[in-house]
Amino acid sequence: MNIQEKIAFLDSYGPWAVVTGASSGIGKALALELGKIGFDVVLVGRNKAALLELSQEIETKFFTQTKIIEADLSQLEGNRKVLQATAGITVGLLVASAGFGTSGKLLDNNLETELEMIQVNCHSPLILSHSFGQKMVSRRKGGIIFISSIVAFQGVPYAANYAGTKAYIQSLAEGLHRELSPFKIAVLAASPGPVGSGFAKRAGMVMGNTLKPDEIAVPILSALGKKGTVYPGFLTKFLTGSLSLLPRWGKVRVMELVMRGFTKHQSTSIN
Ligand SMILES: NC(=O)c1ccc[n+]([C@@H]2O[C@H](COP(=O)([O-])OP(=O)(O)OC[C@H]3O[C@@H](n4cnc5c(N)ncnc54)[C@H](OP(=O)(O)O)[C@@H]3O)[C@@H](O)[C@H]2O)c1
Repeated sequence: MNIQEKIAFLDSYGPWAVVTGASSGIGKALALELGKIGFDVVLVGRNKAALLELSQEIETKFFTQTKIIEADLSQLEGNRKVLQATAGITVGLLVASAGFGTSGKLLDNNLETELEMIQVNCHSPLILSHSFGQKMVSRRKGGIIFISSIVAFQGVPYAANYAGTKAYIQSLAEGLHRELSPFKIAVLAASPGPVGSGFAKRAGMVMGNTLKPDEIAVPILSALGKKGTVYPGFLTKFLTGSLSLLPRWGKVRVMELVMRGFTKHQSTSIN
């Protein structure tokens, strides 16, 4: 973004941005990029040490303000804490990046963890976008970025529930994109391919080629207000392009092979 674009972006979506999942990976890269543009940034996560470190980095490098909110977004209380702690500031941009996945056969996985995933990946973005969205509508300006995934567009064996949560997010974003555009609120689904972050370790996957979080931060922010979905990074475009000619059942089979590769170190029961 050049300086004029940064000023226009800040004017449309500032002064404060709330970034969930700011302690790591994609959320952290987006929070840093927003600080660089000149946003004051609310950093949300559970890992307080990582949030403090990022807060110091943003404040010393970019001279903008930050707020840290330590919150578990799998809990209603955690989401309420975010809303209460931001009640006194003008939030023009919500970035809902917090999320996690699992891998392997669904029936072998822990049901509690799968339910927690739905809470973090789906309930939390719904709660936060509902509340911040209402305030943006009354101001007739703002932006919401949801982090979807290329897994959102077909079923994914060995990541069945995770892909389901991303299908929900993709669909929520596409619907809200149209509902909120008359109010000058930009809504974006960012749908990356594999990204090297804390994600794979928590999901028990070993990924091959990955994008770097800071490679996709600028393309994601640049797409806000211009389109409804962005496929950030060359690898994402290559993967979505390769899958695009297949029927949906064919995409499921390809994703099955991909996920087998990502999880084959894990267990011999995936066969
Ligand atoms: N990496 C990929 O390949 C990839 C691809 C497509 C989409 N995505 C999506 O991108 C988003 C960010 O993932 P990432 O790759 O950046 O992974 P990451 O490095 O593991 O970051 C995940 C973030 O989510 C936060 N989080 C997880 N559970 C939480 C909870 N219960 N309460 C509050 N915060 C929680 C973590 O914060 P704390 O640990 O501090 O709580 C962390 O900041 C996710 O929605 C993911 O589904 C990832």
